[in-house]
Amino acid sequence: MATFHRVASVADFQDGLVRVFPVDGVEIAVVRHDGVWHGFSGRCPHANYLLNFTRVKPEDRILCSSHMALFDLHTGCVLSGPTEVGLKRYPVQVAGDDVLVSNEPE
Ligand code: FES
Repeated sequence: MATFHRVASVADFQDGLVRVFPVDGVEIAVVRHDGVWHGFSGRCPHANYLLNFTRVKPEDRILCSSHMALFDLHTGCVLSGPTEVGLKRYPVQVAGDDVLVSNEPE
């Protein structure tokens, strides 16, 4: 069973703005977009670029600005760019004002 760790308060998030947190040794990106919470790898699988403060792009895309890899926010799959490795997805929960993340990928 996944263990969840508190990373921040709900009020710490702007809609569509990705934040990255260390969670028990794993850097995990968290974003609330259109009212839905998402957790995924905090670093791009191509060359390890940190995705902190990335904004969700139109059509629910995550763009790594280092070499322009494009990922699907909902699945983590690569849509285009220099990698074939997608973003791992991590479970996010909200309990009251607390945002919780598991470091066990979905
Ligand atoms: S590090 Fe993200 S595309 Fe190269």
